[in-house]
Amino acid sequence: MSTVTSLHAPKGLEGVVATTSSICYIDGDQGVLAYRGYDIHELADHSTFEEVCYLLWFGRLPNADELKQLKQRMAEERKLDASIIYRLQLVPKHVPAMDVLRTLVSTLSYYDPENTKNDHDANVNKAIRLTSQISMLVADYDRIRKGKPTVEPDRSLSHAANFLLMLNGKEPSETAERALDIALILHADHELNASTFAARVTAATLSDMHSAITSAIGTLKGPLHGGANEAVFKILTEIDESGADPVEYVKGMLAQKKKVPGFGHRVYHTEDPRATHLRRMSRDLGESSGNPRWYNYSNKIEQFIKADKKLNANVDFYSASTYHTLGIDVDLFTPIFAVSRVSGWTAHVIEQLDDNRLIRPRADYVGAAYPQKYVSLEQR
Ligand SMILES: CC(C)(COP(=O)(O)OP(=O)(O)OC[C@H]1O[C@@H](n2cnc3c(N)ncnc32)[C@H](O)[C@@H]1OP(=O)(O)O)[C@@H](O)C(=O)NCCC(=O)NCCS
Repeated sequence: MSTVTSLHAPKGLEGVVATTSSICYIDGDQGVLAYRGYDIHELADHSTFEEVCYLLWFGRLPNADELKQLKQRMAEERKLDASIIYRLQLVPKHVPAMDVLRTLVSTLSYYDPENTKNDHDANVNKAIRLTSQISMLVADYDRIRKGKPTVEPDRSLSHAANFLLMLNGKEPSETAERALDIALILHADHELNASTFAARVTAATLSDMHSAITSAIGTLKGPLHGGANEAVFKILTEIDESGADPVEYVKGMLAQKKKVPGFGHRVYHTEDPRATHLRRMSRDLGESSGNPRWYNYSNKIEQFIKADKKLNANVDFYSASTYHTLGIDVDLFTPIFAVSRVSGWTAHVIEQLDDNRLIRPRADYVGAAYPQKYVSLEQR
């Protein structure tokens, strides 16, 4: 009997259901995103990133005591081995920030007290540790490359506030803290997106959590995935510097058959529910900072692309102007995506290992007919 159940998988596995999962629900036609059944709009309006982490890792919303304990545990894990800082200092200046993150996250495993363990509880501990450490890595790296001293974590602060403190050297305003907190909630999980799939494939070989997250970071880096937010801001900067009309600029891109980053989605055929919040945040932060032009450029582009190409803005489009207005450098946009998404990646690794089976699909062979006649090297 053939072991192949389905031939001709659609390109890019579009529409293929590759696993069961109880973490993230998406209805691409209705524009619904929910973590463990809770609508993203309610979570963005009422919860915190730490609460969402609890929901993703433990499967339900925490009560007040449970949330307090998780926040304490995450705060206690705000520590990096001195050799990690030393490695950050050795990074050559030309290296992209995502490459630094990918390599350093792998190195974190050397110092993980449960490095050789791969059971459920050890992986929950690693999820907590990695979530705290990745945010520190991004902040410390940014300061080191700018020749600034690193900033000690403040264990009394929220995850979002501590990250902004360690990045900027001063405690953020309440508005900035909440804006980042919401952005972290919105980016925390997204079902079987490319990086999460990569994490699950790695975990399913019974490798380990750090390897799975390293795979995920390498996958997130690409401009068709997390890298799109950086590409969006590069366009906004070019428009700003050249004084070009935003609509004419993207018309020019489309005329050259280029895709406009921040638009389109494999799953959503309507508004990406995360974009709804990011659009509002981008507008509000622009107004409150007295610098609305990044939002204005973005909004003109969005209206044109929606009317002309029937494409909706995705999560990456307004996160670019939002992060910029929060004072974050463009090449940190994708690392900050990882600062949030590590919560979802780790939840998926835990779920995968709780009921594991090696992920090993088949390929539809379209190469030279079998058998080819082998011709010796001398006669070729
Ligand atoms: C997200 C993305 C990879 C989904 O890709 P996909 O499901 O493979 O869809 P396709 O690339 O096949 O796009 C379908 C059609 O819409 C067009 N399209 C999709 N996204 C577009 C964009 N951002 N700009 C212009 N046209 C776009 C394609 O050219 C294609 O048109 P065609 O049928 O005339 O050839 C794609 O929309 C894209 O590349 N977007 C830009 C990058 C981005 O923002 N990524 C972040 C995603 S959260």
